[in-house]
Amino acid sequence: MTLRSSGTQPIQIEQDVVLARQTARKLATECGMRLIDLTKLVTAVSELARNTMVYGGGGDMDWQILDENSRVGLRLTFRDEGPGIPDIKLAMTDGWTSGSGLGLGLTGAKRLVDEFELDTEPGKGTRITITRWT
Ligand SMILES: Nc1ncnc2c1ncn2[C@@H]1O[C@H](COP(=O)(O)OP(=O)(O)O)[C@@H](O)[C@H]1O
Ligand SMILES: [Mg+2]
Repeated sequence: MTLRSSGTQPIQIEQDVVLARQTARKLATECGMRLIDLTKLVTAVSELARNTMVYGGGGDMDWQILDENSRVGLRLTFRDEGPGIPDIKLAMTDGWTSGSGLGLGLTGAKRLVDEFELDTEPGKGTRITITRWT
């Protein structure tokens, strides 16, 4: 697996969530991703970027385009130094929210991508990495 290109984008305010979506769309197109997969990925980005802003108190989205044999991957990491997620199992339950959301962001995002990794530590922050392959 080789790294073709990478970058970082801040997620601090509402407008950054829109920009993160646009970046993901542009990168997915660059990867040659099918429209259906691109749409799924952008939906996942919406949810995770919003969580980074709302619950994480802001953070960053790192992106990487990966080449592996005949496939291309877009890997995105959402990281913040917010309060972390005390109960991952609960947070990964459909319909559970600590706020006023629908509680479908994390579980929905997980279903929409090929790889989903969640690292979090109370008091330290949260890091979620998703990958979608062509
Ligand atoms: N980056 C984050 N930092 C801290 N807590 C988070 C983060 N992302 C998600 N959570 C927690 O996980 C819960 C579920 O998230 P999600 O499925 O997106 O639902 P919703 O955003 O509707 O609450 C949130 O209510 C919140 O408690
Ligand atoms: Mg959410």
